[in-house]
Amino acid sequence: MRPIRLGVLISGRGSNLLAILEAIERQDLPAEVALVVSNRAQAPGLEFARARAIPTFVVERGARGDRAERHQAVRTALEARGVDLVVCAGWDEILTPEFVAAHAGRILNTHPSLLPAFGGGLHAPADALTHGVKVSGCTIHFVTDDVDGGPIVLQRPVPVLDDDTPESLANRILTQEHRALPETIRLYAEGRLRTEGRRVYILPAER
Ligand code: GRF
Repeated sequence: MRPIRLGVLISGRGSNLLAILEAIERQDLPAEVALVVSNRAQAPGLEFARARAIPTFVVERGARGDRAERHQAVRTALEARGVDLVVCAGWDEILTPEFVAAHAGRILNTHPSLLPAFGGGLHAPADALTHGVKVSGCTIHFVTDDVDGGPIVLQRPVPVLDDDTPESLANRILTQEHRALPETIRLYAEGRLRTEGRRVYILPAER
């Protein structure tokens, strides 16, 4: 079985991209990163790709046309690299309906809260603290046009501590994302995810 080809979309630090790359390098993930896309030319995470000679594609926000045009350019780049699964790993833009339709059921996102709590924004750990919840966590879900509302694959809880700051909580959540995102991709690669409506069932491993 050939490894599935991933297109990873980032906007910044890229620690989730690194977690995917390291899982592949440990042979824990039957995948290969075929393309890394960033909407910021200065995203530090691009270095993880360059250090491994993985092709990168930058579509700077605001630099080239409108969102529809930029996301069309991303689609073309992903198709040219034969990408099977798109992974939003710290990507900070809403994908256009055309993009989502073209990759329906083949886009994953990681979000730093237990959805549906604290979806739709870029400050979920801070919002969780402000709200006073005692447990937060991360959610890996399929992307649909409903922002942060697509079918949920995995969630990992993280306790909120009395002395947490938005940064300390975000860092503990991030540690869980680094495990849950590669795990979700592995389940997808193994053909073990079955989506029925909003529910995603994880099928047992083949013996
Ligand atoms: C992650 O917590 C992700 O859920 C959120 O932004 C963070 C990205 O981190 N959207 P990184 O760029 O993967 O290090």
